[in-house]
Parts: sequence; structure tokens; C-alpha cells
Amino acid sequence: MELQNLKQRFDIIGNDPVLIRALEIAVQVANTDLSVLVTGESGVGKEVIPQIIHQNSARKHGTYIAVNCGAIPEGTIDSELFGHEKGSFTGATETRKGYFETANGGTIFLDEVAELPLSTQVRLLRVLQTGEFYKVGSSKVQKTNVRVVAATNINLPHAIRHGKFREDLYYRLNTVPIVIPALRERVADINLLFTKFAVDFAQKYKMPAVKLSPAAQHLLSQYRWPGNVRQLKSVAEQMSILEEERLIEPSILQKYLPADGPGSLPVVGGEFHSNDFVNDREKFYMALLQQMQHEMQALKNDIERLNGLVPLEGGEFGQMHALPSVVPSVPSVPSVPVASALQQAPAAQTISAAVSQHPASSPLNANDSGIAVDADYEEDLSIPNATDALIRRALKKYENKKDAAEALGISERTLYRKIKELDLEEE
Ligand SMILES: Nc1ncnc2c1ncn2[C@@H]1O[C@H](COP(=O)(O)OP(=O)(O)OP(=O)(O)O)[C@@H](O)[C@H]1O
Ligand SMILES: [Mg+2]
Repeated sequence: MELQNLKQRFDIIGNDPVLIRALEIAVQVANTDLSVLVTGESGVGKEVIPQIIHQNSARKHGTYIAVNCGAIPEGTIDSELFGHEKGSFTGATETRKGYFETANGGTIFLDEVAELPLSTQVRLLRVLQTGEFYKVGSSKVQKTNVRVVAATNINLPHAIRHGKFREDLYYRLNTVPIVIPALRERVADINLLFTKFAVDFAQKYKMPAVKLSPAAQHLLSQYRWPGNVRQLKSVAEQMSILEEERLIEPSILQKYLPADGPGSLPVVGGEFHSNDFVNDREKFYMALLQQMQHEMQALKNDIERLNGLVPLEGGEFGQMHALPSVVPSVPSVPSVPVASALQQAPAAQTISAAVSQHPASSPLNANDSGIAVDADYEEDLSIPNATDALIRRALKKYENKKDAAEALGISERTLYRKIKELDLEEE
């Protein structure tokens, strides 16, 4: 496929030679059955690669399954991947097919592959080497023909040295390595991407696109982007919503570029003052952003405390080992509209594995405010969606609207308007 076509079809922006090379490799190996390992920092855009591979392969009419290995509890992952026999464990009331059986003739994308437990890694290696697997609780060997593409933002050689990942599996998965460069390594693409996102969000929120002054463009390209394209997209979204002035100068942009470092909270929220905002809508979004930050920080603390309680091997809480993989590192920006690990491939028959199979059992689908916290679910992480959740929550919590409005940090008038918009009167 022509490169321009490919980029258009998969909505990929950028001309960086290393990125282009990665796309070319994906296309070149698509029609083989070689395993591909996609690596790169968080947010660089790894998830489009397995889709390119599947769509450009002879398997494109087969099933494509994206599995977020970090989102499935350790206790059920073998059964999810390989299926189980009726009665093989409590709750196994029916025999069930696993993804490797369902995807026979198609492609499986194992996202966050480094999160797989070692015992599952053994099963995976076997199916990669021989096409053979066993259902959990069965001694009957089964055959399948599945192409595997895996991705991780973890340094696997490091994980191998620490006994967390099997070296033999690493070599087997890494037959074709595809590395997606960090955004800071493709400086010339940064402003291109920003412009594209600004235009997209202008359309989404029905307002003119924000534009950067030349000095702001320079600042944008000099920033380190620890969250890569995902962070850039989120900054574009926040600015689109919050900034009245559509021409952005460096002094404004600066507020959206948090100091780099673990746990660094966004500057947004901390540094804004209510009189920076001209109208209610902006105040409202600001309050929302602040509240989301607090919620996420609180949730993160809870999870960290929980992790502290979980024994390291086995034990009663063994199944919670999957938690660390889905701990939301408080993102450097509160609203991250992330392409889901489980998103639909553009055309083929696709099964969104972890989501469709785990709507309720997954520990982090949403906290009690309804704010989704794990970036890799097929969730609506948009600000409008989170807004609705917060409003519902405030209305539940406070008997009178005045208190609810106060808690939300918005005027009663705005609250009444939102209630009407959302049709919340009965509730
Ligand atoms: N070149 C690009 N052009 C347009 N959008 C991009 C590009 N690269 C990444 N994105 C967007 O950035 C966001 C993050 O990308 P993606 O979800 O693929 O990250 P990732 O590498 O899988 O990160 P993680 O390791 O955290 O899962 C998505 O919304 C994706 O659509
Ligand atoms: Mg991803």
C-alpha cells in the first residue's frame, strides 16, 4: 500500500524517518506469519501497528483480537487466552473458548505483554512454537493458527534480568522488532501533530481551532513530552476547551506543560485562578479538571495502599497481582482521550477482548464517580462524559442544588442548565 494512503487510512500524522520506517516494516512483514514485537514509550502510538499488520495480511478477513494483558486479572488470564473446560475451577459452569481458539486464522494483539504472569508466558511460548495449546483443566491438545503481534512500553531485557519475563519468549516474540520513537525524537512532527489535534478538537467542540504563535510553536517542539503523542493530544484538547483566546502565546502554553518527573501533577489547575476565565463554561471545566486530578490522585493512593497489602506470590489476593499494571500513573493531564487497546480494527471482524469479556470483573473500570481511570479500556474518557458523571454524583450526594453547584464549583444557573441538557430532572 502507498505510504500516504496508509497514513490516511490509519489516521497517522508525521514524516519522521524512523516512524516511517516502522510503518514500512509493518507493511513488509504483514503478509508473513512472523511474530512482531512493538516497543516504545507510553503514548508513542504503538497500537496502530498490529492493525496495520492485520489489515495488510491475508488474515484480514479473519478475526482480530486485541487483548490488554495488563487489564485481565492473573487468576483468569489463562482461561481468557486458552479457554477452559467445564468444571475446571469454581465458576467454570460451561466449557469456554479462549482467544487463541477464537482467533484461529486471524491475528491476536497482546498489548502490555510484559504483564503476563510467568506461567502464562510458558503457555504462550508453546502456542507460538507449535500452534498447540491446552484449555485450562483439559489434557486434550488443540491446534490453532494465529498470528501474534505484541506490544510493551517496558524494557523487556531489563524485565528478563529481573526474572519477570522469559528470555525464550522474548526472542520468539521479537522475531520482527518494531520500535516507535519517542515524540521528543521526532521534533519536526510535534507541531504537525498539534495542528491536526487542534483541528479535530475544534470540530468536536464546535469552536475555531487554537493556533500557536511562532514562539509557542518553538516552545512546543522543545518540550520533553514524557507522555508522548497521548500527552500532546490531551494538551491540545485542554487548550481547545479552556482558552478563550485562540492564538496561544508561550506564557499560556507553558501552563499546560508540566515539569517532567514521576508523579508531577499537571500545572493546569494549580496555577489557574478563577478570574482567568471569562465565562461559566470555562470555570466549570476548570473545576472539573481540578476535581478529576484529586480523584485520580486519591485513587492512585488507594491502589498503592492495596498493593502494599497484596502478598507477592500466590495467596488469597493472588488475583490482584494484575493491579499494578493498571494503576493509573496520575497522568500529566487529567483528561486523556486514548485510543483503546481494544479498539476496533478499521474493517475486519474484531473482538474487543478484555472489555467485552470483563465489563464488571475488572478492578478499574471506573471509580465511584464514574470517571474512568484506566486509559486502556474502551471507555469514553472525554471531558463531556466525565462532566456528566461528576454532575450526577454531586446531585446524588447533595440534597439541594445550591450545595451541589457549590461542590462542583459552578453557578446554580450552570447546574440547572446542565441538568436540563442531560435530562437529569427525574433522577
Ligand atoms: N503518529 C500519530 N498520528 C496521530 N495520532 C497518533 C500518532 N501516534 C499516536 N497517536 C495517538 O496518540 C494516542 C496514544 O497512542 P497509543 O494508544 O497507540 O499509545 P501506546 O504507544 O499504545 O501507549 P501505551 O504504551 O501507554 O499503551 C492515541 O490517541 C493515538 O491515536
Ligand atoms: Mg497502548
